[in-house]
Amino acid sequence: MLLQKIDTLLEEISHKQAETKEEVEAFRLQYLSKKGAINKLFAEFKNVPKEEKKEFGQKINVLKNTAQDKYQEFVERIQTSSQSDLDVDVSLPGQPFQLGSRHPLSIIKNEIISIFSKIGFTVAEGPEIEDDWHVFSALNFPLEHPARDMQDTFFIEKNPDILLRTHTSSVQVRKMENSEPPIRSVFPGRVFRNEAISARAHCIFHQVEGLYVDIDVSFADLKQTLLYFAKEMFGAQTQIRLRPSYFPFTEPSAEMDISCSICGGKGCNVCKYSGWVEILGCGMVDPNVLESSQIDSKKYTGFAFGMGIERIAMLKYQINDIRLFFENDIRFLKQFQSE
Ligand code: DAH
Repeated sequence: MLLQKIDTLLEEISHKQAETKEEVEAFRLQYLSKKGAINKLFAEFKNVPKEEKKEFGQKINVLKNTAQDKYQEFVERIQTSSQSDLDVDVSLPGQPFQLGSRHPLSIIKNEIISIFSKIGFTVAEGPEIEDDWHVFSALNFPLEHPARDMQDTFFIEKNPDILLRTHTSSVQVRKMENSEPPIRSVFPGRVFRNEAISARAHCIFHQVEGLYVDIDVSFADLKQTLLYFAKEMFGAQTQIRLRPSYFPFTEPSAEMDISCSICGGKGCNVCKYSGWVEILGCGMVDPNVLESSQIDSKKYTGFAFGMGIERIAMLKYQINDIRLFFENDIRFLKQFQSE
């Protein structure tokens, strides 16, 4: 009779489930507590007939162990499940991860570099803090040239002059000092001018300079190189126009216009109804400049050009205020995708 009771309890316990704290506690009270079913059976031991005592003893121990194991299992299970409740809910959607985009000036700079690299131009960079020699003297600027004036240049030290470069033409000089022709390179970089900030001008901006020095380099090479650049940058229908100009470091010098990429040359407010917009300065490297860098001007000739990256970006993306490039407003920056 009592043995039968043990079997029934064993069967019952092995099918029990407890998911919550309350159910686990109810299990403990029902079977394992002082007044629980198993202790009650132990109390019956004295009433068990002698010949059954041994079997009863063995069975009740199995029952007790089974109940304890089961209880332990329930306790561990609710512990791990409440822990994972605290840590993460794996069914929640993930936090969106915002990817940044390239700055429009970097996109345009990379595009300019890639256009020139297709026709054999390498890339080099020079320092932003420069001396008078590399920014002015070696580039044939007369001593009294207005560009050396305090109004244009940020000087760091006077006599000898240390300054923030006002153009990337300084890198031409460094390149010629450090290498032998043939030289065919572009020099991207940041430049600084002591100017009032407005929609059109900033005291910090970016340029890409180009230099080609070799035997028999002609103005026709310059023109063809720049025509190729204009068509790659602004589309195959783009036309160019060279107007005579003056720079101390080139002779002859020119400024290059492209047919307005906004109105296609018909006239609009970007090209001020002329159909043309200026994008760069250029010319044949002045023999004095070659000689300043120990390049034989009787043997070699060269051309150079320089353009503002902001200006190209403003034309290409139709941006009407240069200050937008430096404000780092995410609503502005995220509109540009590199190709
Ligand atoms: N350095 C000039 C500037 O900042 C741009 C320039 C003009 C560069 C003519 C050149 C050049 O190499 O040949 O305005």
